[in-house]
Amino acid sequence: MKPLLLILVILAVVPEDLQEYQQAKKVAEEIVQETRTVLIKTISEAGLKGAIERCSSVALDIAKKKEKEEWRVRRVSFKYRNPEDVPDDYEKKVLQEFEELKRAGKLTGDYIHAEVVNERGKKFLRFMKPVIIQGELCLKCHGSPGDIPEDVKEKLKELYPDDKATGYKLNELRGAVSIKIPLSNK
Ligand code: HEC
Repeated sequence: MKPLLLILVILAVVPEDLQEYQQAKKVAEEIVQETRTVLIKTISEAGLKGAIERCSSVALDIAKKKEKEEWRVRRVSFKYRNPEDVPDDYEKKVLQEFEELKRAGKLTGDYIHAEVVNERGKKFLRFMKPVIIQGELCLKCHGSPGDIPEDVKEKLKELYPDDKATGYKLNELRGAVSIKIPLSNK
């Protein structure tokens, strides 16, 4: 019965001219691109160990700003480093889809999943964009033991004792940016 239920709550495939869709797209792109820029800059100034906290700062700053508008903005992953990034049931389903597309060679960083869903009588836009390991940079903190410098490894262990976000290779799916926006009057 469960698949049927899921189909029923999905109200519509999102029209790309929906204002919230365009806003979510911009925010998701900003998170992916800015995070990379901030990491590169901080690593050049303070080294890898000094940049550890910067992988999350762009996403967290934007999430905080958007809280006022009741948006929920986050990054999620099956193999999370921060336990706050555990996907909810909806996000799990979409991450699974991303993984299947990836295996079929059909997933790029530009891919977007967006739907209007109904949750307890309220409408929401759910928007997700894949985050790919696109460069050696990501491997320095998310790669195999040989990719990660010892001092970084130690610091990560101290900060994230239950870290699952290592062992990645280039071009693998790291997770997703996930945005949920209430559509009260639509
Ligand atoms: C300097 C170390 C460092 C580098 C380089 C780095 N990350 Fe991270 N990454 C982290 C840390 C630390 C966290 C946990 C942040 C937190 O506490 O929210 C994290 C978390 C994440 C998350 C959120 C999911 C989770 O595991 O909690 C994603 C997605 C992510 N990184 C993607 C990337 C990508 C893509 C790159 C390459 C562009 C990258 N990271 C480069 C250190 C790094």
